[in-house]
Amino acid sequence: MSRAKRKLDHIDHALATGQSRDSGFDDIVFVHNSLPDSSVEEIDYSSKIGELSISSPIFINAMTGGGGKKTEEINGALSAAAARYGMAVAVGSQMAAVKDPSERSTYEVVRKVNPKGLIFANLGSEATPDQAQQAVDMIEADAIQIHLNVIQELVMPEGDRDFTGALGRIEQIIRKVDVPVIVKETGFGMDTHTVAKLEGIGVTAIDIGGYGGTNFSRIENARRSRTLDMFNSWGIPSAASIAEGCSGSEAASILGSGGIQNALDAAKAIALGASAAGMAGTILSAYTEKGEEGLEEELKALHLELKWIMCALGAATVTDLQQVPLILSGPTHHWLTERGIS
Ligand code: FNR
Repeated sequence: MSRAKRKLDHIDHALATGQSRDSGFDDIVFVHNSLPDSSVEEIDYSSKIGELSISSPIFINAMTGGGGKKTEEINGALSAAAARYGMAVAVGSQMAAVKDPSERSTYEVVRKVNPKGLIFANLGSEATPDQAQQAVDMIEADAIQIHLNVIQELVMPEGDRDFTGALGRIEQIIRKVDVPVIVKETGFGMDTHTVAKLEGIGVTAIDIGGYGGTNFSRIENARRSRTLDMFNSWGIPSAASIAEGCSGSEAASILGSGGIQNALDAAKAIALGASAAGMAGTILSAYTEKGEEGLEEELKALHLELKWIMCALGAATVTDLQQVPLILSGPTHHWLTERGIS
């Protein structure tokens, strides 16, 4: 199967498979504050991803690229909308365009419609340092995401089977490229040790990309005749993974993603310690189901509702939100207790 066809398949299967609600965010409750001493007008939700300043703490995570006109249209729409809300936006894996320049337009459109916004390039950890710099240059990216996707590759019939040396390659990419490197998972989460190893080689922003939203095991299984069901419920749920990540990092920004479907999930991700929250599947569905207007409505509501939540909690800034009290129950409480993470 061609790479372009696979990209389109991913979009269709992601939309058909949808998002589960196994991210663990429903195990978290905020403690109501009757005297928040706050005003919606004064909420400042600007934040940081490593050294990069972001005016919205919600970013659009990597999705499409390659695949021709359809992905070009989606990428253009997402990037233009991101620009209007001051959101950073990531492109999907650029390996197709690094190998074949005729594929570049589906990525370049992201910069064309959004000349000043924060845009993240994206490649897998198999990339060489030169390929990483090419991906950055292609879209004048402000940072590059390097994705880790062992489970997706294993379930993909034509996927990789050798995952040795990824940490060393990421270290070389950091040395070579002239923008920050964000390492991200793709829906299976990261634990304390993975985050500590990444920080140890100089990664300053880590997106734990947890389990419980878009599920690439299910998506790839939908393309197989003999399915690998054991990987369908495999992974660290996002809520637990954000807490794992924060306990494994000293100074790196931890980004929360995987199953963030609304402003409340994003607020909980930040309250667990994330400096920003990434959304992929929910944003893609909003656009494909309701078009540009639907996407606009979704992003507007997300930002307004996040302000209202922060106001209700008396959290005027992202730093305040990271410190509000939380009640954890269910599997997330159990996970963190077992792992000795408070
Ligand atoms: C993705 N994702 C992804 N991630 C990545 O690093 N490179 C990529 O090329 C892609 N491609 C891709 C295509 C489609 C159609 C979807 C829906 C997603 C993964 C994405 O960035 C994110 O990590 C997961 O989707 C989990 O987040 P959500 O969807 O639960 O918010």
